[in-house]
Amino acid sequence: MTVCEAPGKVYLFGEHAVVYGEPAVPAAIERRATVTAEPREDDHIRVEAEDLSLNGFTVEYSGGTGDHPDVDVPTPLVEAAMGYVDAAVRQARAAADAPDAGFDITVESEIPLGAGLGSSAAVVVAGIDAATRALGEQLDRRELADRAYRAEFEVQDGQASRADTFCSTMGGAVRVEGDDCEPIDAPNLPFVVGFDGGAGDTGELVAGVGELRDEYRFAADTVRSIGDVVRTGETLLADATPGVDPSRELLTELGELLDFNHGLLSALGVSARSLDSMVWAARDAGANGAKLTGAGGGGCIVALDADDATETALSFTQECEESFRAELATEGVRVVES
Ligand code: MEV
Repeated sequence: MTVCEAPGKVYLFGEHAVVYGEPAVPAAIERRATVTAEPREDDHIRVEAEDLSLNGFTVEYSGGTGDHPDVDVPTPLVEAAMGYVDAAVRQARAAADAPDAGFDITVESEIPLGAGLGSSAAVVVAGIDAATRALGEQLDRRELADRAYRAEFEVQDGQASRADTFCSTMGGAVRVEGDDCEPIDAPNLPFVVGFDGGAGDTGELVAGVGELRDEYRFAADTVRSIGDVVRTGETLLADATPGVDPSRELLTELGELLDFNHGLLSALGVSARSLDSMVWAARDAGANGAKLTGAGGGGCIVALDADDATETALSFTQECEESFRAELATEGVRVVES
């Protein structure tokens, strides 16, 4: 039995624009998805999932192509979760050259599904790592990140960037621009997350931005402006001392960029009333800045605030179901048991 766990992430800057080749800076947070993989005698895959923002489910199906999992409650979230686990198993089989390998897979996650915290990337990264190790192979991190990207790309119909999977594999803050992915230094940023209890449809939201961008030159300019915000943010991070608490000035400047990034994402139609309410609750409470994180449409916001005021204000905000402080996860995917 092999158990691996991988962190979720928040986007400091750059979601959506990263799909069009602009840079993005996600940062891993200490909320993890844990995947257990146990090889089977046959080629079947049995998946047991818990805590994925749904009541949990168990499915078993044969590993042949064209087979469908026998799911009692076919909710979109179950189907989404199954799609990612399935794609992770395919990558592990290919990596270990074991096309008929069967597994008992268990997924547990502290990261709500589809809420902008990189839940699917964390499941895919931990899943590929656990399943390949269970087959006696060990991938280096770059190959693991690449295979996880390919799994997401497949499930999301070619509309994925490398940002979520690279960040979840490596941990810390990373910079992604097209195929170019690098870990970067970052100070201890005081992230506060607000979650509205909902989820957006990443594929639909990404497609919506694509349509706007095709239709209006100013939408394409908005995407490029997000890239400018990211480049400005990167320079600020590069000048900061890594691993220590950031200065007030740095937090003020980064916060201003978060606010700007949120405005540009709103203009592209990916915010939501609940996300805007949480962003404004954070700003009113004195956060340095706040923005939605991930695909949008519902889910989470991220704010910067070294004090407790934002977390408290969010906990009293009607649209906010859960608020918490998110520590930077300096370690990416890791083995818990092998
Ligand atoms: C979703 O977490 C982030 C998007 O930029 C899509 C992607 O990068 O794959 C919206």
